[in-house]
Amino acid sequence: MDEPRILVVEDHEPLRVAIQTILEAEGWSVLSAGDGLEGLEVMSQVCPDLILADIMMPRMDGLAFYGAVRARREWMAIPFIFLTAKTSREDALKGIELGAEDYITKPFEPEELVVAVRARLKRAEALRAVTEAEFDRLRQQIIAIPRQLLEAQEAERRSIARELHDEIGQLLTGLRLILEMAGRELPGARADSLTQAQALVGELLARVREMSLQLRPPMLDDLGLLPALMWHFERSAALTQVRVNYKHMGVEDRRFPQEVETAAYRIAQEALTNVARHAQVIEVTVRLWAVQEMLGLEIEDRGVGFDAASVLATHSSSGISGMRERAFLLGGQFTVESAPGKGTRILVELPFGGNTMREQHERAYSACG
Ligand SMILES: Nc1ncnc2c1ncn2[C@@H]1O[C@H](COP(=O)(O)OP(=O)(O)OP(=O)(O)O)[C@@H](O)[C@H]1O
Ligand SMILES: [Mg+2]
Repeated sequence: MDEPRILVVEDHEPLRVAIQTILEAEGWSVLSAGDGLEGLEVMSQVCPDLILADIMMPRMDGLAFYGAVRARREWMAIPFIFLTAKTSREDALKGIELGAEDYITKPFEPEELVVAVRARLKRAEALRAVTEAEFDRLRQQIIAIPRQLLEAQEAERRSIARELHDEIGQLLTGLRLILEMAGRELPGARADSLTQAQALVGELLARVREMSLQLRPPMLDDLGLLPALMWHFERSAALTQVRVNYKHMGVEDRRFPQEVETAAYRIAQEALTNVARHAQVIEVTVRLWAVQEMLGLEIEDRGVGFDAASVLATHSSSGISGMRERAFLLGGQFTVESAPGKGTRILVELPFGGNTMREQHERAYSACG
């Protein structure tokens, strides 16, 4: 943690300066304000780790200031210590009743102030560590379920694809050979119906192969993301008449964790289907790169575009929200930039190093206010 920041709210300037000197001597950094209103103003710019506030102050007194601080969710957990003259000790007790952590009676010894501040900072840090660990645990649990579902779905697709290709495909090939041999032995008209049967079996075989590839192309498991994507681009260009302009960096001859390769492949697949279905273009650009444990994927077209914000807000689309969910479940980022007439750009970043998700969470947690 960086050096703790302490906000001192005190209208009596010499005392405020003295407190600042004592705290700074301990290595803490100090923000100061002359009354509650100024305190709130300071807090809207910088979030302190602890607040020391006098009770009797002009404009907004300590108790009103305390109420305003606790009213904001992001300030609720900041330790709050009242500074009070002996004569207004009752007000300080009121503050404690409302939930303030402590109070110090003026005049006080520097040591007394330092001990109180240090104890409250230590306790807040310990609570923060516990909350963070608990938050992390819950987050892991929450994302584990949809992640397991997606993984189970992929495993099922892989197994059905293999079954179709290896088992059913083999049987159909055998059947076609038998029909071929039988056809050679039969004369005339009877051989004709066998030729027809042979053609039907050939068609069936082609469909089974196609279904198997659609479910999960074997090169995604055997060769990795890049070969699978290249194969998909070629196929999709032939089927949809949309040319794929493809650029990549740092991904050649590289394998990534299976869930990352699957997510990137499925996202590219859905994004290209969207381009073919909605964008009204003949070309799309796909970029794939890997830099510092982050796999990036971008799909950009210069087509008709759409109102991305309202599509994302309605939750009615399954394609785009599916892409977003895949990215989020791996701790990644997903962005859609689009506007009517302005084309569409989808950017996905997937961490493949391990602890990026935790780092992201820590960054989010430390941003207070
Ligand atoms: N590249 C694109 N260019 C133009 N419009 C797009 C593009 N991608 C998505 N859209 C718009 O966003 C909408 C939502 O897309 P999404 O993929 O979520 O759903 P869908 O393609 O309509 O259906 P599905 O659930 O089968 O994918 C689309 O209906 C379309 O209007
Ligand atoms: Mg779609």
